[in-house]
Amino acid sequence: MATFTFLLLCATLSAIIFFFLFRASRCRRLRLPPGNLGLPFIGETLQLISAYKTENPEPFIDERVNRFGPIFTTHVFGEPTVFSADPETNRFILLNEGKLFESSYPASISNLLGRYSLLLMRGGLHKRLHSLTMSFANSSIIKENLLVDIDRLIRLNLDSWTGKVFLMEEAKKITFELMVKQLMSFDPGSTWTESLRKEYVLVIEGFFTVSLPVFSTTYRRAIKARTKVAEALSLIVTERRKEIEAGERKNDMLGALLAGDDEFSEEQIVDFLLALLVAGYETTSIIMTLAVKFLTETPLALAQLKEEHDQIRGKKSENEALEWSDYKSMPFTQNVINETLRVANIIGGVFRRAMTDVHIKGYTIPKGWKVFASFRAVHLDQDHFKDARSFNPWRWQDNSGAASAGNVFTPFGGGPRLCPGYELARVELSVFLHHLVTRLSWVPAEEDKLVFFPTTRTQKRYPINVKRRGVSKLCKD
Ligand code: HEM
Ligand SMILES: *[C@@H]1O[C@H](CO)[C@@H](O)[C@H](O)[C@H]1NC(C)=O
Ligand SMILES: *[C@@H]1O[C@H](CO)[C@@H](O)[C@H](O)[C@H]1NC(C)=O
Repeated sequence: MATFTFLLLCATLSAIIFFFLFRASRCRRLRLPPGNLGLPFIGETLQLISAYKTENPEPFIDERVNRFGPIFTTHVFGEPTVFSADPETNRFILLNEGKLFESSYPASISNLLGRYSLLLMRGGLHKRLHSLTMSFANSSIIKENLLVDIDRLIRLNLDSWTGKVFLMEEAKKITFELMVKQLMSFDPGSTWTESLRKEYVLVIEGFFTVSLPVFSTTYRRAIKARTKVAEALSLIVTERRKEIEAGERKNDMLGALLAGDDEFSEEQIVDFLLALLVAGYETTSIIMTLAVKFLTETPLALAQLKEEHDQIRGKKSENEALEWSDYKSMPFTQNVINETLRVANIIGGVFRRAMTDVHIKGYTIPKGWKVFASFRAVHLDQDHFKDARSFNPWRWQDNSGAASAGNVFTPFGGGPRLCPGYELARVELSVFLHHLVTRLSWVPAEEDKLVFFPTTRTQKRYPINVKRRGVSKLCKD
């Protein structure tokens, strides 16, 4: 026993010595960005996690940027990682996707997503499916096809709210119904949609298991749920193929996948749909919840938003759907959405892997190293946004809040992997806010806090007490 302990000690010590020697020599040779690799093996992972579990994770980045500058080296989640808080570098990373960098996810995530999900695909197939997805959710398709359903489904959901609701749960229900409708033309309320969603929630939980996935019951449950979801989707694909043979056509994403000249395999279609559901579901629902939270905490902004939407509603009958022209006449709403995206940073940044030694800003990122392009660090940087840490939708009014918003504001990423759902997400949010403020008033039911790890969310799913706004009140306002 004692020998064993001694051996273990020796092994650990030599690993530590090797780690520091290796670090010193490689750093000098390659001019790595400066930084601190922290402890062997775990690096600075624990500092990162504990910062992001609080309402204010900024010090983790601030401290390092102050010491080392906006590009620094750290060691998180098992690997040395170059961290960029610099908008130019971030842009360079995004635009060189597939040339100098490629997206990179741990195996635990790839197994859940499936290898034919857009997020994991590369090369020509990625290019084809990315543009297919872009055209499925582009503004003319939303205007002609999707907007009616978005309006109807959101309205139906809001009309069922009474008393205390957990906004985060409700928003998730809404975005799931929307995605399922848009991807496969399934209407909500069916037991199929609800039971699929339950399995889905389990899959999503699997993405955020931090401990070793093989030992985690959450992760094993997620893999099982993924199999079930994939089976359900396979059945739908088979059915749809039969319908098409019988001459029936549906105007949705699945239809587009089956109609093209590309012969996609069943596995490809299932993986693709499954990942699209993941990408569109969590993100949009959290942004919905946080927009309401920030508005609640900023009464002046909420009042101005209400005014904008009461004016639009005033020209319509009670249940008349919003049209594209209405969506286009909500300038303040767009400011609120941008500001929510900026402050909340649902996708705090993206991980990539260097495909070759990359030289940038006088440093070298060695081939095979991970990089993290932090959008969050840029969006909350005082140099780029005045008073960057506070929620101020008016900053977007004349773009005075942002030095050059186009280049530094990247909530949806950019380059070949630009989020294909960016317009869809904005429309869904706008319609949601419209019906929310014209139909309901609310107060928070409990104090709730934002946390940023493992994902951005509020601790208590944002419980609120809702009341219907009377018609007479709407006229007086
Ligand atoms: C507020 C809501 C959303 C935010 C903040 C967001 C953000 C992002 C970001 C930053 C990326 C880039 C990831 C990377 O470069 O590695 C991305 C990719 C993606 N998003 Fe979104 N997204 C949102 C909503 C949606 C919606 C509604 C859809 C559904 C159509 C969607 C589908 C996708 C897909 C499929 C990708 C992968 C693209 C690729 O790798 O080629 N997203 N999203
Ligand atoms: C949107 O995509 C459709 C094909 O799905 C295409 O015909 C149309 O030109 C696209 N519109 C825009 C504005 O890109
Ligand atoms: C909001 O952000 C987008 C980039 O995602 C930008 O194109 C747009 O101009 C911004 N809106 C306003 C009102 O500044």
